Amino acid sequence: MTLLSLSKVEKRYPGVKALDGVDFHLREGEVHALLGENGAGKSTLVKVMTGALDGDAGTMTYLGKPLKLKSTAHAQSVGISTVYQEVNLLSNLSVAQNLYLGREPKKFGLIDWKRIHRQSRAVLERFALDIDVTQPLSNYSVAVQQLVAIARGVDMSAKVLVLDEPTASLDAGEVEQLFGVLRELKSKGIGIVFITHFLDQVYSVSDRITVLRNGTLVGEFETAQLPRKALVGHMLGKELQEAAHRSGTREARAAGEALLEAADVSVQGSLQPTSLTVNRGEAVGLAGLLGSGRTEVCKAVFGVDKVSSGKLTFKGSERRFRQPADAIAAGLALCPEDRKTSGIVGPLSIRENIALALQARRGWWHPMSRAEQQRLAERFIEELQIATPDADKPIEQLSGGNQQKVILARWLATEPELLVLDEPTRGVDIGAHAEILKLIKKLCSQGMSLLVTSSELEELVAFSDRVAVMRDRRKVAEIEAGDISEDTIMRAIAEA
Ligand SMILES: Nc1ncnc2c1ncn2[C@@H]1O[C@H](COP(=O)(O)OP(=O)(O)OP(=O)(O)O)[C@@H](O)[C@H]1O
Ligand SMILES: [Mg+2]
Repeated sequence: MTLLSLSKVEKRYPGVKALDGVDFHLREGEVHALLGENGAGKSTLVKVMTGALDGDAGTMTYLGKPLKLKSTAHAQSVGISTVYQEVNLLSNLSVAQNLYLGREPKKFGLIDWKRIHRQSRAVLERFALDIDVTQPLSNYSVAVQQLVAIARGVDMSAKVLVLDEPTASLDAGEVEQLFGVLRELKSKGIGIVFITHFLDQVYSVSDRITVLRNGTLVGEFETAQLPRKALVGHMLGKELQEAAHRSGTREARAAGEALLEAADVSVQGSLQPTSLTVNRGEAVGLAGLLGSGRTEVCKAVFGVDKVSSGKLTFKGSERRFRQPADAIAAGLALCPEDRKTSGIVGPLSIRENIALALQARRGWWHPMSRAEQQRLAERFIEELQIATPDADKPIEQLSGGNQQKVILARWLATEPELLVLDEPTRGVDIGAHAEILKLIKKLCSQGMSLLVTSSELEELVAFSDRVAVMRDRRKVAEIEAGDISEDTIMRAIAEA
């Protein structure tokens, strides 16, 4: 039976037609993947079906009757529950408060905290999440926050559950937990809309697929009958170029002199003594599970976290960056993993967002001219294929993946000698993914060095000259060029 149907939905933003006559059908008891490149219109469609956004035209049928949603609260009250792409929880409230916000169980007119805490623990148990539910949400990692957001969505006795890129910050184990819960919900007849850029996940969990491209519907498919290459072809509107997906080992390159050397560097409470060298023109991959210490290495190198012991050498002299500004001045750049909190300045334009780091590096008393900012922005919009009509659009109006590209552009613009990228392709579609990898290689050939974390083995294999493997907040192995493969990395991560 069809639970939810959308017909001929349109949504126009200034300069963009985000949705152009799109149909979508969700059946009872299915996981329906909604796919497409960055900016294809996935989040917009989801916002229309969950009452967050009013379409300009189109109709919606729910449980056999026409339905006009007035708000997300309205959608929720009829059983349509959502977890949006950017976590929308209140990080200073406790985990339990977030789970029951706006629907707190009461006893004698008062909020029944005991019950909230008990129920919260039970809900999170399904995700194998054993955390203190009375602590503020901000005490936990992005991944845990994401799971809490999902748990909140799942718990609302919904008939339709919409998940917009829920797995972007989860590690493999957490993804499995989530999929377990999704399969259980499916068996109860709940219809699930699932947006992701991970094709493996599409094939492991979805029953059907809807593909969007540039705001239009490409088609609706049975997952089992759609080969992967055909799917990618539908998303890109062309055949996938083979070069974008090189795998296997690469040849060792004559390494330049050491640019960055960390000798037994540790950070109190987050990083065990770790040694690591990045040579000039080299791309060093940081592999490991979520929470293994990858991000901590990036932060220590860049002066975000205070190094408590060990020695950091950059360009031959010992350095101890007290704050990111010192690192930037020395020629480093860090593109962080959590773009929402440490990256975008929402109301500023793409142009201003791109120019920001370069401006900071030059000093604010040498303001860049608008024309120079414009040239810079146009160059990167072109190089990274940022989907926008112009450079003046506020960054908050871009799709999630395109925001990620803007942040990357901001740091590339400073032409750093060492660029530290923490998960550069998270939430980025398959076409841009290939562009970013190509760019990484080009930058290295021009003499820039890179330290890049990634959860995707294929990606690490494609760009790394060397891979450092992290586990339990320390480096446990290093794999040299000739030996790099998905298999060797996986084994190094897993080895006890
Ligand atoms: N609030 C807004 N104002 C103006 N334009 C917007 C707004 N929100 C989205 N858009 C535009 O609408 C188009 C579709 O965006 P949408 O967020 O739906 O893409 P998406 O498929 O979810 O992409 P991603 O994979 O990057 O998350 C994009 O061109 C985007 O720039
Ligand atoms: Mg989106």
